[in-house]
Formats: sequence, C-alpha cells, structure tokens
Amino acid sequence: MDFQLVEKALLGLFAAVVAATVVSKLRGRRLRLPPGPIPVPVFGNWLQVGDDLNHRTLASLARRFGDVLLLRMGQRNLVVVSSPELAREVLHTQGVEFGSRTRNVVFDIFTGGGQDMVFTVYGDHWRKMRRIMTVPFFTNKVVAQYRRHWEDEAAAVVDDVRADPAAAREGVVLRRRLQMMMYNNMYRIMFDTRFDRMDDPLFERLRALNGERSRLAQSFDYNYGDFIPVLRPFLRGYLRICKEVKDTRIKLFKDYFVDERKKLASTNPTDNAGQLRCAIDHILEAERKGEINEDNVLYIVENINVAAIETTLWSIEWGIAELVNHPEIQQKLRNEIDTVLGPGVQVTEPDTHKLPYLQAVIKETLRLRMAIPLLVPHMNLQDAKLGGYDIPAESRVLVNAWWLANNPAHWKNPEEFRPERFLEEEAKVEASGNDFRYVPFGVGRRSCPGIILALPILGITIGRLVQNFELLPPPGQAKLDTSEKGGQFSLHILKHSTIVAKPRVF
Ligand code: HEM
Repeated sequence: MDFQLVEKALLGLFAAVVAATVVSKLRGRRLRLPPGPIPVPVFGNWLQVGDDLNHRTLASLARRFGDVLLLRMGQRNLVVVSSPELAREVLHTQGVEFGSRTRNVVFDIFTGGGQDMVFTVYGDHWRKMRRIMTVPFFTNKVVAQYRRHWEDEAAAVVDDVRADPAAAREGVVLRRRLQMMMYNNMYRIMFDTRFDRMDDPLFERLRALNGERSRLAQSFDYNYGDFIPVLRPFLRGYLRICKEVKDTRIKLFKDYFVDERKKLASTNPTDNAGQLRCAIDHILEAERKGEINEDNVLYIVENINVAAIETTLWSIEWGIAELVNHPEIQQKLRNEIDTVLGPGVQVTEPDTHKLPYLQAVIKETLRLRMAIPLLVPHMNLQDAKLGGYDIPAESRVLVNAWWLANNPAHWKNPEEFRPERFLEEEAKVEASGNDFRYVPFGVGRRSCPGIILALPILGITIGRLVQNFELLPPPGQAKLDTSEKGGQFSLHILKHSTIVAKPRVF
C-alpha cells in the first residue's frame, strides 16, 4: 500500500468536501438545476446510482425524476434527456449549443486529446475533419463503388459456413466470421485491402488491439478516478495500459496501413480514370495540402476502426440472434426474399430497397437492440437552458435514445421484437431520424454519417444469411441467450452465440 498516496488522497478528499459544499451552496442559490437524487459532497450521486449507468438504469431514473434529470457524478455533471421533445431540443434546435463532446480520462488518451473527429468539440477542427471524411466515406458514390465488394464479402461468409460441416450440426460462432467480413468491408474502403484468413497474424493483432481499446474505454472500472479527480492517482496503472494500447495501435495503423499506402500511392496514386483509389488517398491528400496533420490522419483511421466496424457488427449479431429466437419472423423474411427475387437469387444492395420486411427487421433490431443506446455523449461548452432548467457548462449530456424507442408511453408493446410495427402503425418512421422517438443514429450535426454505409451492409448481410441458411439455436437449447452487455455508451450481446446454420438447397 502506498501510504503517501493514501494520505494525499485523504487530504485531497477533505479539501474537496469543503470546496464542493461551498460551491454547491453558492451555485444552488443561483441556478435552477434539473431534478435528480440529492447529491452528497464530493461523491455527488455516485454512491447512490453506482457505476453502471446503462440505458435501463437511466430509464428508471427518468421515470422517477422526469425527462431531464441531473446526476452529479463526483465532479462531473451528467444530464440525462428522456423525451422526444427534449431530444429534438438537444440534437436539433440547440444543436450548436449541445453539439460538443465530453471525453473522460480514458477517451482523452485514445483520441489524443480530441485530435480525431468523433470525440472533438464542436468547432473548426470538427467541421474540417467531417468535411474531409465525407467524400471518401459518406456518399452514395461510395455505396455504388463498394456495394459489390460488400456482396462478395457476404458471399464469402456464406461459402465458408456452407463448407464447415460443424455449422449445420453443433453450430458455429457466426460472429467470428462476420467480424472478418466487417473488417474487410471497411478496410477495402479505407485502404483497398482485405484479409483472406482469420488466422492472418496482422488481422489477429489488429482485432486484439481494437478489442482491448473497446474494453478499456467502455469499462466502468475507471469511473471513480474520472469522477473524483483526487482519486486519479489510483488510476495510474489503468491509464498506463490505455496509453500503451493506444501507442501500439496507432503505430500499427501507421506502419502496416498508412505508410504502406503512401509507398504505393507515390508510384501510382490514381486509377485508370484518374481517380484517387481509396479513402486514405483522399485523407493523405488533405494532409499534403496542409489541412490536417499526420496525427489527424491516424485518428481518422482509429475512429473508423471503432465507430464503423463494431457498431455494425453488433447490430448484425443482434439481428441474427432475434431471428433465431423468432423462427416465424425468420421464415417470413425468407419467404419475402424467395418471392421477390426468386429462390437462390442472391440479395444485392439494390434489391434491399425492394424488400420491405427485410428493412423492417433491420429497423426493429436497431430499435430494440440499439448499439449506441445513449448516443455518443454530447456536451455544452457554455451554460445553457433545457426544458426550463439551467445546464451548467461542460455537462455530459446523454440522450437516452433507447428509452425514446422503448417507452411504452410512445410505442405499442415495445419489449416485443415485432418488425411488423414498421409496416403498420410506425410505417412512416425512418432510421435517419424523421421522428424523435427513433434516433438509433442520432440526428443533426453530430449524427452518424456512417448510416449511409451501415444500412446497406446490414441488409446485404442479414438478407444473404437468411436466404441461404435456416438459422437455429444449438442442439438442446430452445433459445439464444440475449443478455445485454452495456458500456459507457455501447450495448452488445453478452455471449457471442453459437448458431446452427443449416444450408438451404435451391
Ligand atoms: C449500425 C451501425 C451504426 C450505428 C448504430 C451507429 C450509431 C451512431 C451514433 C448513435 C452516433 C452518435 C450520434 C450522436 O451523438 O448524436 C454515431 C456517430 C458516428 N458514427 Fe456511427 N453508427 C453506425 C455505423 C457507423 C459506420 C459504418 C461509420 C463509418 C463508416 C460510422 C461513423 C460514425 C462517426 C464518424 C460518428 C461521429 C460523428 C460526429 O461526432 O460528428 N458509424 N454513430
């Protein structure tokens, strides 16, 4: 035990108690803060509400305290927004005021203090990064250019699963193969490259490092040091590991992908039509023009690795799990594909627009099993007003998008997985956010630009799996376990399920 450290921390705590009491007395008199549990000095509400601030815990707090509530987590103010009207206010009407991001101590490390795009505050740097990323990643042209690759990648998954006799008998963890598919879908766009084998050592390193990054960042284990700065010295070990993972990962992106691409591009920067070949060529051109620096380039690669690959993979995994657990819905989807395209005619991106039930299955998956249920935390740089309350500057603002889409006051039997709702009573609701009850990708300035890629990839992948296989739980199991694992703002399935995939014969 480091007694000096403990002594310092205790002294710090005492000073913080006194300071917090004085400040809260002074502030409380002036401000009309949102309701919430009564905080105690220094710890605020942390000891009452605990570490796991997941979408369900926050929804039950909203039922007690209302559509806007304030949690004092040590020194951090956390504002939770739980109604469509107030979500509109945060994401749209006051989109500039609430358009920044907070970073906790760990995200600070992984984003180099906000040199990336996802976690940077609203301002010139964010605008520039978003503009530079739009042409190479987020346009219909990119979809048109890459959709055949996505179809090929999904076909390769189908072939591999068909070729594995275990898949049809005891089952396989489909997620593993789908993960390589998602890497290939994104690495083709980014670097014009792909991985052939799951045991490719570079792929294994990349996957392991990205996995570590997610685990370390989404964990609740470091909350105490983030909420209560005097306890931060106890986080030293954790933060050192984060820094090592970050450095190794960024170096891997640089040495094996960005520098490789630079070498190739210096001899042959364009294709036959004189076009730059892949996303990183565009990003490197922005660097050459002096618009961004080398670190920014690497943090763009970092952002895509996390924001694009995992979110889409989690959503595919959730969709498949729900279809296994609802065989009648799975069969209805298969019938739609067989009827509209003809048995064995493989789903392509343009076909997905002709398959309303497939679209409804995807929307329902994103509603019930939202991959980013609290959106990425927003933040107000200045003092602001929301729903008649004062929101102190630099509050972390969580929009509980999952609760907006699962609140029985607004949805019929929301706990049911029922895609039909999106063809019946909710037929007008789109994933792009035309209704503030349903914002799985956010809305407005900080909304997900990747929706344009995510929806077709989900359609192609889920469509192809269902048309080529009967997907079932493993022998002796009636249903898949769909327990959730939440993180700082992520939601994925707790156990990666083994799934039996019985090939269909056409
Ligand atoms: C099913 C898959 C996906 C889901 C559910 C999802 C969801 C989200 C959500 C909820 C946000 C935050 C919105 C907000 O804070 O208001 C977000 C931000 C973002 N997403 Fe996605 N996303 C997905 C796929 C993708 C893909 C494929 C890409 C890139 C190719 C991507 C890139 C980004 C970026 C760069 C941001 C940050 C935007 C900003 O801060 O300005 N996402 N996403």
